[in-house]
Amino acid sequence: METTQQERGNWGSTAGFILAAAGSAIGLGNIWRFPYMTGQNGGAAFVLIYLVFVALIGIPVMIAELTIGRHTQKNPVGAFLKIVPGTSWHWLGMLGVITGVAILSFYAVVAGWTLGYFFKALVGDFNRAMTPEVLGKLFTGFIGNPAIAIALLAAFMGITMLVVVRGVSEGIERWSKILMPLLFLLLLMLSIRSVTLPGAGKGLEFYLKPDLSKIHPETVAQALGQALFSLSLGMGAMITYGSYLSKRDDIPKAAVSVAIFDTLIAVLAGLMIFPALFSAGLDPAGGPGLVFVVLPSIFAKMPGGWFFGSSFFLLLSVAALTSTISLLEVPVSYLVDEKGWTRKKAVGLTGLFTFVLGIPSAISQGSSAWFSKLPVVAMDFLSLMNALFGNYSLSVGAFFISVFIGYKWGVSAAVSEVRTGGNSFPLSGSWGFVVRFICPIAIFFVLAYIAVTGRYF
Ligand code: TRP
Repeated sequence: METTQQERGNWGSTAGFILAAAGSAIGLGNIWRFPYMTGQNGGAAFVLIYLVFVALIGIPVMIAELTIGRHTQKNPVGAFLKIVPGTSWHWLGMLGVITGVAILSFYAVVAGWTLGYFFKALVGDFNRAMTPEVLGKLFTGFIGNPAIAIALLAAFMGITMLVVVRGVSEGIERWSKILMPLLFLLLLMLSIRSVTLPGAGKGLEFYLKPDLSKIHPETVAQALGQALFSLSLGMGAMITYGSYLSKRDDIPKAAVSVAIFDTLIAVLAGLMIFPALFSAGLDPAGGPGLVFVVLPSIFAKMPGGWFFGSSFFLLLSVAALTSTISLLEVPVSYLVDEKGWTRKKAVGLTGLFTFVLGIPSAISQGSSAWFSKLPVVAMDFLSLMNALFGNYSLSVGAFFISVFIGYKWGVSAAVSEVRTGGNSFPLSGSWGFVVRFICPIAIFFVLAYIAVTGRYF
């Protein structure tokens, strides 16, 4: 089923697109996932590999996805059906659609925690200085309450569905424009507070001074997954967003700007978390609860902590929302374009399905013993989903996207798409080389090494 350009909608302007794509990229991946991954993987050495992957694999793959999207003006499945009809490549798009729903299901759970913490901050729950142990108990008690976790998941999915049903340009653009700069300012302030806490030096050292002996194969695999997750790559979210770009827009410039914004936010989030964490004497490998335990301890120690605490969790919820929007947009655009569903039906059914799929994640943090420690893998359901879909599925996706550009569609066809509308692409030669050789080979080795050593998580 073909939809016209009119029905698909378009971004209002390039700046609007960059903000919206940055809105997709910036979210819990930067502020919740990046610090806890860094903490679990030994600190600065992980950060270093992460930065290398952002530059070497992230930016080139983002250019690739945006180019495929703009060329075809389609969702990930339709895009491959259009460029290489009659091949199996559309299964790569299908993998993306499935991955999007799977990521959304646990992402919305964590987004729900953020929303819950906003209300907690608002009613003054963090006004008193509390010991890290008490804050830790507060958090585990909160996420271990099944009714609350499921209700917040439902609330977050509901809000996401409302925005997505209204279509692309009005919904997404308006939100991103105003609130992302505010989040940035707040992060900046909180990191200044954090690095001036007593004992912050140890945290800075952990975060910024690489200890190369801490690099293991799974560190490298986690850093690759984190780079892709944070930039919203490897599942066609950027193919979908690229499909709303106009020929005038400069794709490489957009990709570089988005990657810079996104990385800046992640690096700032680390600067905010680690000094405060070491100052409070907490364990950096504490896992998914890290931000929710460390941050309230900063708020309690600053003037106007109530205001900063509630603003922070509110802005983080909004940042998560601009990301969940992009995750839901992928299956929705697939169902609308390829299956001819109305937008309403696609949003309703996908949203409901994702909510149901999210329930095991919501109750995997203590309320259901079985989901909290699954047999065989010995981890909770949310962490398993996060590892499988937030790491490995994206890595596989990014591998095939670069193979697709390099060996199927062809670098020169892609470059001429980038150049339509009179845009220049000065580094096209290097991009072609990286997409043909560096990306697939590097990703292949990371995945193969992990497969051989069997250390997945
Ligand atoms: N990048 C977002 C974040 O950092 C999450 C996200 C949104 C995402 N869309 C995605 C991750 C697509 C992977 C693929 O929070």
